[in-house]
Formats: sequence, C-alpha cells, structure tokens
Amino acid sequence: MPQRPYIVGNWKMHGTRAMLSEARAIDRAAQRHMKVEVAIAPPYTLIHPVHREAEQIAVGAQDCHHEEGGAHTGDISAAMIADAGGKFVILGHSERRQNHSETNAQVKAKADAALAAGLRVILCCGESEETRDAGRAVSFVKKQLKASLPDFSDAPESVVERLTVAYEPVWAIGTGKTANIEDIAEMHAEIRKLLVSVYGEENGAEIRILYGGSVKPENASEILSTPEVGGALVGGASLTADSFMGIALAA
Ligand code: G3P
Repeated sequence: MPQRPYIVGNWKMHGTRAMLSEARAIDRAAQRHMKVEVAIAPPYTLIHPVHREAEQIAVGAQDCHHEEGGAHTGDISAAMIADAGGKFVILGHSERRQNHSETNAQVKAKADAALAAGLRVILCCGESEETRDAGRAVSFVKKQLKASLPDFSDAPESVVERLTVAYEPVWAIGTGKTANIEDIAEMHAEIRKLLVSVYGEENGAEIRILYGGSVKPENASEILSTPEVGGALVGGASLTADSFMGIALAA
C-alpha cells in the first residue's frame, strides 16, 4: 500500500501558546485534504497543547535523549514525548548535528530509543555546501545516513510505517536556495538504493524520503513531483497555516 505524501512542519525554536491558532488552522485544513499526511513538530512546550486540540494532524518533537530517564538536566526522553501525545520525533537535524555536535552513533541511539518508545522517526541527513562543491555530496550523505539508521531486526515489517528519511542539504536550510531538481532526484535515488540494501527490497522501497530546505508553496509542486520524493520537511513556511498548507496542497 503506497504511503500518502508526508508534509511535516519543523517549527524549530518558534512557538508560544499564541501559535496554537496556527496549529488549529493547519489541523482544520488537513481535515479537508486527507490525501496528504500532515504533521508538525513544535517546541516541546506545545506538544501536549497541540495534541489535545488536533483531530487530523500528528504532533511530534524535534529531538529526544537516547536514555529512558536519569540525571540529564534539560533533556527529554522519547517516552516523555509519547506521554505528552507526541507521535514522532525528528532526529539528526543538521542544526542539532552542528550546534550540539551530535554524531551518527548518537543519532542512531536516539532513533532506537524513539522506536522502542513507540514513536515514529524522521531521520535527517544532508551535506554542507563545501561537501557539495567538492563533488562528495552523495558519498557523504550515504555514509552519514547508513551510520545513523536504526535497527529494525526485531520488527522488520514495521520499518515502512515507522521510519522516514529526510534529505536536507544544509546549504538550502533557511537560505531561500533549494537544491536543483536534478540533484534532488539523484540524491533521493541514492538514498533509496541504500534503504533497499539495508532493509531489503520490499521494505526499503517503501520508506518515504522527504526533501527539506527552503520548500515554499511556489516550488513545492516541482519538488514533490520529483521521483522518490515522498513529502517535505518544512521550516519557515510551516509557521503559518496558509503557506504550510499551500505546500501540502501541492503534493
Ligand atoms: O527541518 C526543516 C528545515 O530545516 C528546513 O527549513 O526554513 O529551509 O524550510 P526551511
């Protein structure tokens, strides 16, 4: 059964309770467009408030700790996200890898913990401008992603529903620059081959691969119609219902 296009908003460090009105508007719009799966990852403080009100959209988190609990001041466990009504977690975002020195091994450990807590995982990968310019983007992303992928040995049949990959060229995030369609198509095809090699033909072929990096209503249709693009991970344009749903409607 092919998965619906998945449009996910990453609110990053934006969002007080005043933003709940946007979440409500996104949820209402998503109820009218069920052909697309819509989700948002607000700051932790809004996960439960959005969960309580949402009827159609899923709410999730932008990170989690890899342990179930303990002396980790300021951290949040996957179980706490689930307890607050979160259904998924974005992991390995380039801003976390850069600003918090997250390694591939740490991202993998977080992903394993998130799955164990019943959360779905959106696993991010992407190259820097320097790596792209050096012609090493594909090799870098494949190495980064392979080292970050969670184990599904205990439930291989569930990988399609529970794992999503997001390719986000770092130089396209928040810059207004998107990767050109040929580069997106090439990278998504390479990621697909990797997923098949890791999880097998049947499951590896169905895992959705999102594109992220300056997706807007104006460019969404071309990006979302690119082969192996199963949705979008959206930052700035997800902060208002109008622009976010403008992208969802292009799917
Ligand atoms: O996680 C999505 C984000 O990194 C993309 O941000 O603002 O370029 O859509 P933006």
